[in-house]
Amino acid sequence: MTAALRLPEPRPGSRILATGAYRPARVLTNDEVAGPIDSSDEWIRERSGIVERRWAATDETVADMAIAAASKAIASSGIAPEAISMVLVATITDSLQLPSVAALVADRLGAKNAACTDLAAACAGFCYGLGLADSLVRTASAEYVLVIGVEKLSDFVSPTDRGTAFIFGDGAGAVIVGPSDHPGIGPTIWGADGSQHDAIKATRTWIDFRDNPADTAPPTITMQGQAVFRWAIGEMTKVCHQALEAAGITVDDLAAFIPHQANMRITDAMVRALKLPEHVVVARDIEYTGNTSAASVPLAMDAVLASGKVASGGLALLIGFGAGLVYAAQVVELP
Ligand code: UT7
Repeated sequence: MTAALRLPEPRPGSRILATGAYRPARVLTNDEVAGPIDSSDEWIRERSGIVERRWAATDETVADMAIAAASKAIASSGIAPEAISMVLVATITDSLQLPSVAALVADRLGAKNAACTDLAAACAGFCYGLGLADSLVRTASAEYVLVIGVEKLSDFVSPTDRGTAFIFGDGAGAVIVGPSDHPGIGPTIWGADGSQHDAIKATRTWIDFRDNPADTAPPTITMQGQAVFRWAIGEMTKVCHQALEAAGITVDDLAAFIPHQANMRITDAMVRALKLPEHVVVARDIEYTGNTSAASVPLAMDAVLASGKVASGGLALLIGFGAGLVYAAQVVELP
């Protein structure tokens, strides 16, 4: 007779125990990016809501930024690095293709008992990571999971591309997810529309770059801005509704709305479509951070908490969406 396999006792829930953020020192104003794209401070503010963004130093790596944000989250959680059972790093901009950023980050942080992997879900990467961390903790496959969203987009943006040069920035945000006696992370609503694979993508492959030495332009990001804009407004509001319904709450129960910081006009349109009550604090971190892809939701969450406008234990609706096209949303209890 085949022996029955044993599984660990599932847990009633998981929650975010602490957050940490890292914003690089260099501030890049709209005037600095406007020249090569024949734009202006006024146009950028009006069309995207961005006033300035941060850029990492040339020698500052994705791993450096991830470690800086994660150190803060670990310190604030009070857990020992050795207690971390999994490190998930959401990023699409590490210039070293292998090995994973997560393995290096875990080593530098002293998380020597952690399983490590990177996640490629672009601007939805952090919310994907949170969904996975919640499942890992609830099924007792892990006890504490470090989820990091980090990007160095300045390495992959062409300063002369009108559709992207002004929008992206660098940074890192991290959270520690751990066991809870009640659900502190609601069901994750996630999915993908691969038919729009071309809507945000690299301009070329590294193989193409290698095999065509006459064309010296390295791969950079290109985006069909209007198509993504329309998709975000039309489809992502539905995903928000699904995440609220799956968690068994309504917009009235929310303390905060923390969407991917893609464009202030997208955030405004979603706030209107969701009919968010006045008391709901809306993250508008894009103004001084730009669009930092996988880092944008954890950076915005950290900023909302630092503002003191939302109390610990308040419910926040998170949603990430971007290249793939992919998306993920969930309601979380703020730490
Ligand atoms: O993070 C991943 C997900 N990404 C997103 O969600 C981004 C979604 N898309 C967007 O945020 C917006 O599409 C952009 C901010 C990228 C662009 O804004 P837009 O309002 O969609 O601009 P547009 O492409 O429709 O262009 C409007 C006008 C055009 O001029 P005409 O034809 O109206 O005379 C463009 O030529 O603005 C012109 N334009 C610019 N002008 C100054 C386009 N880019 C620029 C620019 N500076 N950088």
